[in-house]
Amino acid sequence: METKTMNIKVEKAKTSKIGQVDFNNLAFGNVFTDHMVVCNYKNGSWEVPEIVPYHPITLDPSAKIFHYGQSIFEGMKAYKDGNDDIWLFRPMDNCKRLNISAKRMAIPEIPEDYFMESLKALLKLEKDWIPQTPGSSLYIRPFIFASGNGFHASPADEYMFIIAFAPSGAYFSGKVKVLIEEKYSRSANGGVGFAKAGGNYAGQFYPTQLAVDKGYNQVIWTDDNTHEYIEEAGAMNIFVRINDTLLTAPTSDRILDGITRRSILKIAESEGIPVEERKIAVSELIKAAKDGSLKEMFGAGTAAVISPISTFGFRDVDYDLPETPNSYAALFKKCITDIQYNRAEDNFGWRL
Ligand code: COI
Repeated sequence: METKTMNIKVEKAKTSKIGQVDFNNLAFGNVFTDHMVVCNYKNGSWEVPEIVPYHPITLDPSAKIFHYGQSIFEGMKAYKDGNDDIWLFRPMDNCKRLNISAKRMAIPEIPEDYFMESLKALLKLEKDWIPQTPGSSLYIRPFIFASGNGFHASPADEYMFIIAFAPSGAYFSGKVKVLIEEKYSRSANGGVGFAKAGGNYAGQFYPTQLAVDKGYNQVIWTDDNTHEYIEEAGAMNIFVRINDTLLTAPTSDRILDGITRRSILKIAESEGIPVEERKIAVSELIKAAKDGSLKEMFGAGTAAVISPISTFGFRDVDYDLPETPNSYAALFKKCITDIQYNRAEDNFGWRL
């Protein structure tokens, strides 16, 4: 990864917390590095980003983020190879998607060079925080929220863009059991489901908690209109393999256009795997589970990477997925992580 310098001011932390971190036992997203990027939007424009010590933020109680949830985020990762070189995976895709989310949430778009240059500068400073333990990486959370004040229900006049880093282990520990949800909805036509808006996730917490209480990890959402077709899960897009065909729901204004999802579709195409991007009925899944043609289900996302699903539940019945030799999930995971960790040629031009 090359670094170009824009005039990003850096205020270094007086001491480092790195010595307190057990890099061999990292959970997901609960340890943060010494510094962060901060960039303010004021008087109609974004100020030049700065790097400052990681610290709590003070906001006025009337800040619009608290009342109207005007906030968006991205999830990315940085990887270190055996030579200590640092790599990002399709970072411009995250930058562009953040701005797609921004537009939908009436948030001013962040200039792409502010996003990319501040990210690279922070990575250079925090390079020692990138874990090299297998399965671990540096999770990157860029986000923008309404810091401007006032109870008027209208877009704020001030915003903050922050990038924070969290050295992280796997998102899921152990088998992933999902429950197909048919009462609550995650998103609707014309809504904000395609955006990485904070509220899209908050709205899932209650139904997901009900599923967790029943022993599942995540909910698979169905379409809000009929609840007959599967869409995506809480923190990942969903793929299904029936016989040799790979299926996933098409993106829409209800579904997140996942970067891992996109990568899988490209790899599948290059491997000659038959793919169908189409509506997948719950009844089709159940029929396939019963007749043995359902070979695999897996989730795909930055945090989740590729997470094989061991069981799906629907209307109080659990359907176990078989152990499939030469699984697509294993193939995609190897291909994507080999590119991410610079263990293989990157024929797609995704690594930076
Ligand atoms: C990611 O995969 O990075 C996400 O943003 C999902 C998040 C809810 C952990």
